[in-house]
Amino acid sequence: MFLTRLVYASTITDAFQHTDIESILFKAREQNAKIDVTGMLCFNRKYFLQCLEGSRTNVNKTYHKILNDRRHTRIILLDYKEISVREFGSWSMGYMPESSMTKPINLKYSGKSDFEPYEMSGDSAWKMMIRLKENIPSV
Ligand SMILES: Cc1cc2nc3c(=O)[nH]c(=O)nc-3n(C[C@H](O)[C@H](O)[C@H](O)COP(=O)(O)O)c2cc1C
Repeated sequence: MFLTRLVYASTITDAFQHTDIESILFKAREQNAKIDVTGMLCFNRKYFLQCLEGSRTNVNKTYHKILNDRRHTRIILLDYKEISVREFGSWSMGYMPESSMTKPINLKYSGKSDFEPYEMSGDSAWKMMIRLKENIPSV
């Protein structure tokens, strides 16, 4: 079974309420753990940047569910590839809040010092998440 990685960016809609982040993470962790999907979610109260890793079938299944979620829009695929190892194997869905995405980190991986995932290449987005994972506990 192929191991794959998918990275996308999106923007919250009016249907998103700020307490929704807790329920999104709860659901993601519960569902992903059942199908061995792992990954990371970055959120700055406006944009999401998420990485999903797992079997091709399960990553696609999860992405399709996410695409239909009315709480976000402008969903753009930044990267999709077959990989040989997971980077986020300890996280059914790790979470990076805005405070993790400091100006020097944004500047290192994008053309701006603000968190703007639409301004990032798939490779930069993924490398930024790998850098950030050093600071967050496993979930
Ligand atoms: C930004 C964002 C990230 C999400 N990430 C995941 C995820 O990693 N895994 C997942 O199962 N659902 C995720 N969801 C929730 C799904 O969109 C959907 O609500 C949920 O999977 C519904 O599952 P159910 O129909 O099986 O109850 C995410 C939603 C949003 C808005």
